[in-house]
Amino acid sequence: MGPVGLVTAISLARKGCNVTGIDVDENHLRQLRKGDAPFFEPNLSQELKKPAVRKRLIFSDDSSLNSKSDITFITVGTPSAQDGSAILDNVRSAAISIGESIRGIKHYQLVAVKSTVTPGTARCVVKPTIEKASGKKLREFGVCSNPEFLREGNAIRDADFPDRIIIGSDDLKAARYLEKFYRLVYRGNTPPIKRTSYENAELIKYANNAFLATKISFINCIANIAERTPHSDVTSIADGIGLDERIGRKFLNAGLGWGGSCFPKDMRGLISYSRASGHIPTLLEAVVETNERQKDKALALATSMLGTLKEKSIAILGLAFKSETDDVREAVAITIIRGLLAQGANVRVYDPKAQGNAQKIFQKSIAYADDKIECLRDADCCILVTEWDEFRSLSPGDFTKLMRTPVVIDGRRLFSSRRMIEGGVRFAAIGLGPI
Ligand code: UDX
Repeated sequence: MGPVGLVTAISLARKGCNVTGIDVDENHLRQLRKGDAPFFEPNLSQELKKPAVRKRLIFSDDSSLNSKSDITFITVGTPSAQDGSAILDNVRSAAISIGESIRGIKHYQLVAVKSTVTPGTARCVVKPTIEKASGKKLREFGVCSNPEFLREGNAIRDADFPDRIIIGSDDLKAARYLEKFYRLVYRGNTPPIKRTSYENAELIKYANNAFLATKISFINCIANIAERTPHSDVTSIADGIGLDERIGRKFLNAGLGWGGSCFPKDMRGLISYSRASGHIPTLLEAVVETNERQKDKALALATSMLGTLKEKSIAILGLAFKSETDDVREAVAITIIRGLLAQGANVRVYDPKAQGNAQKIFQKSIAYADDKIECLRDADCCILVTEWDEFRSLSPGDFTKLMRTPVVIDGRRLFSSRRMIEGGVRFAAIGLGPI
């Protein structure tokens, strides 16, 4: 019942399926039964409380309950090992409990792997583990690889209206069964369904994230060139190239780098898998390297504008790895704050949702403001790290009146540079060339 499992469960319950959400964490389950989401995702708690969802969705720690279902989705986490590869222990344990629970049952059960896994996992880990634990042979049960593409902050909508469904299986019966299920669930709105092999489906998930991360690192590279080019601005360049239908404008927003629970982990997973299979993925490694360097940009800009950062008061607007989430996993803000503290700066932060999660990391080493205004008060420099909508309304006057020195670094290109500069702000932004 992490982000993927819970959102999938809610979406399927709303579409009329009877769903059992299984998790090993009792606290988590207690919260869910009360209708409280254990993490922030827009509308999640509201959805959990809706009678239509409550009627069809139950939560349990009894993993044998899946034997009563027609389909079991594996949605466990696959964190990175030291060498970057995906740790598959949770997938293995899930496969063991599924296998044990379907031992002796008469009806066909399909197991769909939604977790992001190393190519070969469905065929070489999930299938044999279930066979061993259940004493059954494939075709008495089915296995499909069925990756998800949910975005945090937009997950419920993505689950309700997926742009495609990928079904990986060499077992025709299993693939047909899952396709039929999705056609029933989405009816007239069924998106394109692509059937392919297990390994293709697993690689589609990795390649999808790698392509998006590449797009962002690409535009960040162009941003760095634009910053050194008088009268240029990466936003305008992104708009220009985005008009080429072959390129498209999406995921061309330059910034302080990508983070989160997926891109960094999945890039490491794909690179590690590629290297292990004998190919050095030079492009993917450059994408990661570009991103690592991008995270240093905020500090470099602040230093160039303030001289030293020692004992300077720095206001950080935004901690989450992107807006509409409370997730700070591999968030750029964490790297920036660590760098600021190492240089002796005083850091005050504000984020509408992620403050609690950041507090677990930084505790009392930084100050937490109750709102954006308090965060800016008497600061020597403000670094905008996350593109929350509520920051858009900050005016040049807010910065000049509230801050000790109105030095603003726009790490997400949220503000109009002309308006800020004309309003008396000392303004720097990712991808903005000298005027
Ligand atoms: C991503 C994929 O989009 C999703 O399909 C997959 O299932 C999980 O990983 P998510 O991690 O929720 O989703 O966030 P996403 O919206 O993709 O953003 C990832 C990072 O890229 C964020 O740090 C965001 O700020 C950054 N980003 C995104 C940019 O810097 N510029 C952009 O133009 C877009």
